[in-house]
Amino acid sequence: MIDRPRRLRQSAAMRALVRETQLPAASMILPMFVRDIDAPVAISSMPGVVQHSFASLAAAALEAKQCGVGGVMLFGVPAERDEQGSEACEPSGILARGLRAIRQAVGDDYIVCADICLDEFTSHGHCGVLTADGRVDNDATLRHYADMAVVCAQAGANMMGLSGMMDGQVGAVREALDDAGFQDVVILAYSAKYASAFYGPFREAVQSRLEGDRRTYQQDPGNRREAMREVRLDLEQGADIVMVKPALPYLDIIADTHASSDVPVAAYVISGEYSMIEAAAEKGWIDRRAAIMEALTSVRRAGADIIVTYWATEVAQWLKEGK
Ligand code: PBG
Repeated sequence: MIDRPRRLRQSAAMRALVRETQLPAASMILPMFVRDIDAPVAISSMPGVVQHSFASLAAAALEAKQCGVGGVMLFGVPAERDEQGSEACEPSGILARGLRAIRQAVGDDYIVCADICLDEFTSHGHCGVLTADGRVDNDATLRHYADMAVVCAQAGANMMGLSGMMDGQVGAVREALDDAGFQDVVILAYSAKYASAFYGPFREAVQSRLEGDRRTYQQDPGNRREAMREVRLDLEQGADIVMVKPALPYLDIIADTHASSDVPVAAYVISGEYSMIEAAAEKGWIDRRAAIMEALTSVRRAGADIIVTYWATEVAQWLKEGK
């Protein structure tokens, strides 16, 4: 026998030497939730994840930075919601206040990404404003995203996560940022975002009011080639990084995106993906740490340069300990 692949698997040292895929802490982004509260509140469907107060938010962002996590991403949970999601565009709104708290804690250059979308802020829970007859008004929504991005940049965000899946959102936000003097703010485009059942726990995290679904703007899970159209359009409009979301059920899309673009590719391991592993581990059905490392490594292996994950800080700590 000449070929013995097992030779390269004989010891931990040999396996480490030939491992094709690494999971550096610097490639991970930690998503966080902020609310105007005195102390953090647990999110029951996402064990270990909380709605932060301003103080705990700042501390957790600093901890992420000190552990080597690449950056943080912020979602705001407002006290008041209205038809237009007005608080999203207010400098005194929850998101802008949270961004300022993070920026103050982590200093100038750390990656702080703002979620640019209206769904947490609208009384109807949709990602955009509605027409008189209740449909999501794509073009009217773009103006809100543009205003929101400028407010977030002023509050200290140096990256914008465009998660609303409105056509033309990347171009609209890029133009507004440039006009306001924020040429260096990076656009992380949620290019291929699917209408997924796995967002369930996130809706609790942001206390979403959504009734119905997002199928008129997020992609149909059955579509693969359409994702490449979305990626192409976002790149034409100036996306700096393109993202696929969710991650694990869409590894083929991550691989396609990696192959078809020349910008960094991100993938978001979403709430439901997180909660499934946490729940199974809690029941003792899987080895929690091994399952997390395997899942995240698989997302990297498929072609993601950047992973957005609620486990970012913990995994960074494991990597530091050398475990
Ligand atoms: C929309 C948004 C969603 C998530 C991130 N941004 C929810 C949705 O589209 O319904 C989901 C993140 C997660 O599930 O972890 N602004």
